[in-house]
Formats: sequence, structure tokens, C-alpha cells
Amino acid sequence: MIKLALFASGSGSNVENIYEYFKNHNKILVDSVFCNNPNAFVIDRAKNLGIDSILFDHSKSSGIDLLNMLQKRNVSHVILAGYIRLIPEEIIDKFQEKIINIHPSLLPKFGGKGFYGSKVHSSVIESKEEYSGITIHIVNKEYDKGKILFQEKIKINENETPSTLSKRIHELEYFYFPQIIEKFLLDKL
Ligand code: GAR
Repeated sequence: MIKLALFASGSGSNVENIYEYFKNHNKILVDSVFCNNPNAFVIDRAKNLGIDSILFDHSKSSGIDLLNMLQKRNVSHVILAGYIRLIPEEIIDKFQEKIINIHPSLLPKFGGKGFYGSKVHSSVIESKEEYSGITIHIVNKEYDKGKILFQEKIKINENETPSTLSKRIHELEYFYFPQIIEKFLLDKL
């Protein structure tokens, strides 16, 4: 079985969507949710869904601590689904090409440190971009710089707001992210 740990820092709607997609899968299992924010709604979601959640303090837990937790659970891949921090080097080294992130813009635009969630959408609108979209990529040691696996774009509407854009981007994420994870993990991408 391919065992996934989902990392999240906020609401966790992608976590729930990924969990639902894989819940009866015969090769891929959502093992756990790793969360660095004690106030994140994803913790409630995980509880309601019956997924183990591991709350950690990114300023106190070392990369080695986190790596030990992942290895103890026999996790084979890590999925960043709305995770706001950089993944420690120790984990990147052990999980080479086995960590996937979703970013709510067309990278390399509007990526890097500090670009997270609604901040991305307001910057896209302020910059009068014609398109935005999603990027699914492999994680390396730099923010949003790993190999791109998939992108999909949408046209920015007249009167678009960060909140309408966020909603439209989330719809794309729900549709594509689980499928791309599945294809990548089963070597079908
Ligand atoms: C998603 O839009 C995801 O692409 C984004 O955070 C949101 C989390 O939503 N990730 C990043 O910005 C990573 N830099 P959710 O908590 O409802 O799944």
C-alpha cells in the first residue's frame, strides 16, 4: 500500500477532498494529517473523518523529529495540501521525488515565501493578470521551485475578487489534485 501523510496549515478542504477520493482505493491510503497550526480547522476535519492527526510546532520540532514520526508510520509519500512552511531538509533528503505540493497560481508567477492562499489571489488581481490557475509540483529545498507535474489555467473575470478567485481555484484543485496524485504515484503521469 502507498501510504500518504497530508500536511496542512489551515481549513483543510483539500485534505477532505483527497481523503474522499482515496477512501476506497486499493493501492493508495491516506494515513494521517500533519498540522503545524493548533487553531486550524483541518484538525476538526481530520477528527470527523476518522484520520489520525499529528499536531506539531514547526519552531520546536526538528526535521529529524518529523522524519521519525513519518517513518514510524511507514509513510511513503507526503502531500502538501495547503501547508504554509518550508519542509525541513532531512525530510526532503529521505523523500526525494516523493513530496508533492499544490500552489494556487501559475508558477513561477506568485510563488515563493509568503505567497499563500488569499495573498496569492489578491496579488494576481492587483497585478491585472489575464489568467491564474493551479500548479502541482515536486517539492525540493526551495519554496515552489520543484519540477512541475501539472498546471491548469482559468481566465480572470471582470470584477473578480480574491474571494471569487479563491473559490474558482479551489474547484480546480478539488478536480485535479487527487487525480494527479494518483497518476503520479501509479506511474501514469
Ligand atoms: C489551497 O488553495 C492551496 O493551493 C494553497 O492553500 C489553499 C489551502 O486551502 N496552498 C498554498 O498557498 C501553498 N503555498 P484548503 O485549506 O481549503 O485546502
